[in-house]
Amino acid sequence: MLRPNSRLSKTMAVFSLALFCTIVCELSAAPVQRITTDKRNDWPIIGVLAQEVYKPQPKQNSYIAASYVKFLEAAGARVVPVMINQTEEEYIQLFKSINGILFPGGGVNLVSSGYAKAASIFYKLAIEAASQGDYFPVWGTCLGFEQLLLLTCGENLLSQTNTTGVSLPLTFTKDAMESRLFKDFPPDLMKALESENITENSHTWSISVETFMKDEALNKFYKILSTNTDGNTEFVSTMEAYNYPVYGTQWHPEKNAFEWTRPYYPHTPSAIKNIFYMANFIVNEAKKNSHSFASKEEEQKHLIYNYNPVFTGATSAFEQIYFFE
Ligand SMILES: *[C@@H]1O[C@H](CO)[C@@H](O)[C@H](O)[C@H]1NC(C)=O
Ligand SMILES: *[C@@H]1O[C@H](CO)[C@@H](O)[C@H](O)[C@H]1NC(C)=O
Ligand SMILES: *[C@@H]1O[C@H](CO)[C@@H](O)[C@H](O)[C@H]1NC(C)=O
Repeated sequence: MLRPNSRLSKTMAVFSLALFCTIVCELSAAPVQRITTDKRNDWPIIGVLAQEVYKPQPKQNSYIAASYVKFLEAAGARVVPVMINQTEEEYIQLFKSINGILFPGGGVNLVSSGYAKAASIFYKLAIEAASQGDYFPVWGTCLGFEQLLLLTCGENLLSQTNTTGVSLPLTFTKDAMESRLFKDFPPDLMKALESENITENSHTWSISVETFMKDEALNKFYKILSTNTDGNTEFVSTMEAYNYPVYGTQWHPEKNAFEWTRPYYPHTPSAIKNIFYMANFIVNEAKKNSHSFASKEEEQKHLIYNYNPVFTGATSAFEQIYFFE
């Protein structure tokens, strides 16, 4: 008979006790006690708005590009998809449950789409909430940026530019250094942003600086942080609202680390570093909001983890997409 190696069996005993404890403790741990500091919510959940699929397929009527989800997750947020075509009551309920919203890029109509309708409701709720001291950040990227302009001034003031598929360095305004968005960015990153081609533009419409400055609703609400030019038209590329947590970039911060289908998507070290500073800023803004779902079950039901992205990189500009019915 073999004598068991006593050191090994002791190790095994400790190991199985630890395993036992892990299982029992995990089973008995719910509900999780959430530890947050004074006013900071370290469990932020950010909504990402879906939009209509250009050519709907069975069970594929709306979508979110997965890069927006990864972008926010990488900086410590969880994501809830905000579906289009919901009722206003449903959006109000969701607004009270999440800590911020991101309007992604894309190609749907800025007035008649389900995306535009949902964006309009969340924008209105965020502005109303701010007057009651309820801080609800709203971020717009590309189409989302254009949607914000339209929501703020009430009309479409965009003009066409030659800016599809080009990575550019930002031209910062004098307000950029003191802005909430950029003030904590390290100097080497600010230098890279204004000298290297690391902000990716995929838009045919822009707001020219001239038009923006002429429109009182826009120039009183937003501070221009950066501009760019297509050689003919100088356009606004980054903005933040003076008195509201509302922000937009005409360029795409999320693509640098997560999209690979086009040769002009920048992946240089500073391009990658920038994505995380941008995401970190947005997520920290959401940490200033204390909305929560009514229960853990409600929260789980809404999280993006209930859906699986599919690989679309062979046929689309996005590597992975979440499709919804
Ligand atoms: C949204 O509603 C519009 C108009 O009723 C409809 O045409 C479209 O198919 C709906 N899309 C989704 C994803 O529900
Ligand atoms: C658009 O810009 C590209 C460079 O990004 C240039 O090659 C092309 O000629 C421009 N097209 C027009 C119509 O100006
Ligand atoms: C950056 O982009 C501009 C405009 O397309 C181009 O003129 C310039 O050569 C690019 N610079 C680098 C370093 O690629």
